[in-house]
Amino acid sequence: MKAYIEKNKDRFLDELFDLLRIPSVSADSKFEEDVLKAGEFVRQKLEEAGAENTELCQTAGYPIVYGDKMIDESLPTVLVYGHYDVQPADPYELWETAPFEPTIRNEKVYARGAADDKGQMYMHLKALETLLQNDALPCNVKFMIEGEEEIGSNNLEIFVKENTAKLKADVVLISDTGIISNEHPSITTGLRGLSYVEVEVTGPNRDLHSGMYGGAVANPINVLCEMIASLKDEDGHITIPNFYDNVLTVSEEERAEMAKAPFSEEEYKKMLDIDATEGEKGFSTLERVAIRPTLDVNGIWGGYIGEGAKTVLPSKAYAKISMRLVPNQTSEEITNLFQQHFESIAPKSVKVKVSPHHGGEPAVTPTDSIPYQAAHEAIKEVWNKEPIPMREGGSIPIVALFEHELKVKTVLLGFGLDEDAIHSPNESYGLFNFYQGIETICAFYQHFAKLSK
Ligand code: BES
Ligand code: MN
Ligand code: MN
Repeated sequence: MKAYIEKNKDRFLDELFDLLRIPSVSADSKFEEDVLKAGEFVRQKLEEAGAENTELCQTAGYPIVYGDKMIDESLPTVLVYGHYDVQPADPYELWETAPFEPTIRNEKVYARGAADDKGQMYMHLKALETLLQNDALPCNVKFMIEGEEEIGSNNLEIFVKENTAKLKADVVLISDTGIISNEHPSITTGLRGLSYVEVEVTGPNRDLHSGMYGGAVANPINVLCEMIASLKDEDGHITIPNFYDNVLTVSEEERAEMAKAPFSEEEYKKMLDIDATEGEKGFSTLERVAIRPTLDVNGIWGGYIGEGAKTVLPSKAYAKISMRLVPNQTSEEITNLFQQHFESIAPKSVKVKVSPHHGGEPAVTPTDSIPYQAAHEAIKEVWNKEPIPMREGGSIPIVALFEHELKVKTVLLGFGLDEDAIHSPNESYGLFNFYQGIETICAFYQHFAKLSK
């Protein structure tokens, strides 16, 4: 296997580069043609890798790429999930090289989607090719690669519900998460959920002269800032009533286990160029981003932001707010609690509108299962290190959906690093991680088939 990967490594990378050159930004309709092109590219490459029955499954949004290789009904089946869409590349001026012209620097590929998720998803296509070319695929495999992950996978639920037989599998395998470091490989055992809302605060019926009216009429931007500031207390707790009601308390044992993960607060601060971290009192940085819920403003706007100064008391102010959720919070419950609370704290001087965006449920994956054990063995074999179980803060809503609809659990076998800067300018993915990932995926299939016997 290793020899085949080594022999074909340049071609593997060339193909990934071709995929990275397609600006498949699902959030921006300007890129519609490119998102479609990326879907077809993936379908074609999946077929070339040796998958059968490849197709573009139409949805109300972007198509889902499907393909499979069923070698024996009596053998277990792995369902690989990934996404071919990417986040917008903005702000372009902060990229050292163009986001859709992949470039290698310091042994890393720089491009939007390099790690999230094109580079990681593509490892699976190349792992399939490697296994088939070596006559070594030991189980059945199905692929489902979507094009709307970064915008909330809104059409996925219906697709999964309507295709339960087609997607039937014994385990879902996803490479769309990270590891602690290349020295300390880890397996992700949990993801947070997400509630995302947009709020609109309206004051007077038109923009006003801030001298003529300022002081007598509520300024919606000022009001919005005060409202947002009140959502957390001085200990970093979220003040929305009942917000924590369903938060599952993580046991002291598990917290002690988490604390063993190699993590340096000093290096973390250095990496982000901050002098101090901040968060909920009583929890460590690792805990704050993994086992605790959060509330963050993702964007805030209103009034005049053009060149120079315009004296204006704006009529409206807006913000986009996300809440990351942990078991057993649900996005519906939290979105409702937010809405009720936000409306209740609005002063009489303004009107408030809360509009929910997409959501997703949190997920934890079992560590006492055969697929997890197979992932563990695969990493041990390829990385020569004992992998560490670790919960992560990001969200992949499909994980809970697969569990709910298909009654199948997921293994999160991703190889990204914090320094990959996903969703940020200069996103990258290490060449070492790309090739090592392909090898680990091949090893996963071997161990999974062996342990399933
Ligand atoms: N791959 C990420 C999720 C992720 C990132 C998991 C890092 C673990 C570590 C995924 O593409 C993503 O960005 N998800 C979104 C949620 C979605 C509903 C827009 C997220 O987490 O913001
Ligand atoms: Mn992703
Ligand atoms: Mn993402």
